[in-house]
Amino acid sequence: MRIVTAIEDSIREAASLLKEGGLVAFPTETVYGLGANALDGTAVARIFEAKGRPQFNPLIVHVSNKDQAAALVEFNEWAETAAHHFWPGPLTLILPRKEDCPVNELVSAGLDTLAIRVPSHPVALALLKAAGIPVAAPSANASGTLSPTSPIHVEESLGNKIDMILAAGSCAVGLESTVLDCSGDVPVILRPGAVTTEELSRVLECDVKIDSGDSEQPKSPGMLQKHYAPSIPVRLNAIDLEPGEALLAFGSDTFMGVKGGGSAKDLPETQRRNLSEDGDLNEAAAHLFMMLRALDKPEHKAIAVMAVPEQGLGVAISDRLRRAAEGSS
Ligand code: TXA
Ligand code: MG
Repeated sequence: MRIVTAIEDSIREAASLLKEGGLVAFPTETVYGLGANALDGTAVARIFEAKGRPQFNPLIVHVSNKDQAAALVEFNEWAETAAHHFWPGPLTLILPRKEDCPVNELVSAGLDTLAIRVPSHPVALALLKAAGIPVAAPSANASGTLSPTSPIHVEESLGNKIDMILAAGSCAVGLESTVLDCSGDVPVILRPGAVTTEELSRVLECDVKIDSGDSEQPKSPGMLQKHYAPSIPVRLNAIDLEPGEALLAFGSDTFMGVKGGGSAKDLPETQRRNLSEDGDLNEAAAHLFMMLRALDKPEHKAIAVMAVPEQGLGVAISDRLRRAAEGSS
């Protein structure tokens, strides 16, 4: 496995690797993706193998522009409007596959719909343009672990299971794309993400709802209850700390106490992080996975997380935190 800085030459090399069936991790504005040629079933299978991901979990196809997307899926008016406003950017659309869609079935896990997006990260766009093929890419981490927001995370999680990591620093958004299902009568959010419910409702001029995913047959099999899980328990809505717990704060933690005496402020640096001291949700999203990862240490009893307001990006952040806490008690 090689980890290389993204420059013109390495991007060209990564594009060739992809075309030949290789696995390349690359930066997007949301998280690092683990890319493979979406037309090549064997290459796609290597993604599942590397991630140890359940096969029923369909992947997002990345393309460099809307025309390339329109060659693969059937656009309707909702999708046209959403793509026009948010592409390139952190929005994934679920649309019916075209009859002659050449994307391998494994990518959509047998579904007759396809998840597709045009990322805005300049390196991702350059790579997709150079490769000229649709690229299937889930987040570049082992299944059920935290999504990677820096090349080091990818290296730690997937190490020698992949061919190359294109490195370009930290991801600006730090949270996966919003998944919007436009294949039904009304658009529905299957995964809250970087594009907010409010933004989508405004642009689509309708009340866009989030599908909680607890129906018997969840539309998005990727919405597994336990998806973003640190290896130690996560305790939500903490208003104080148990001894031995690490703190993931949001906003001011000046008056946060430790049960039995003491203040959170006196904890060692390694035991506390703050998503955003100013209560800025964008900053919090960009820090989320990195900080959970930093606090996920066996010497901590649990990660106690302060509440994040459920509005705007806070909805997606809270969603990820609930998933991280699933199974903890
Ligand atoms: O920000 C992102 O979206 C990142 C970067 C790399 O682009 N990718 C990412 O991919 O998060 P992944 O594979 O970790 O998540 C894909 C999500 C899952 O929740 C999956 O179930 C859903 O999209 N999905 C994919 N195809 C679908 C389909 N045909 N119908 C419903 N949900 C689908
Ligand atoms: Mg993922």
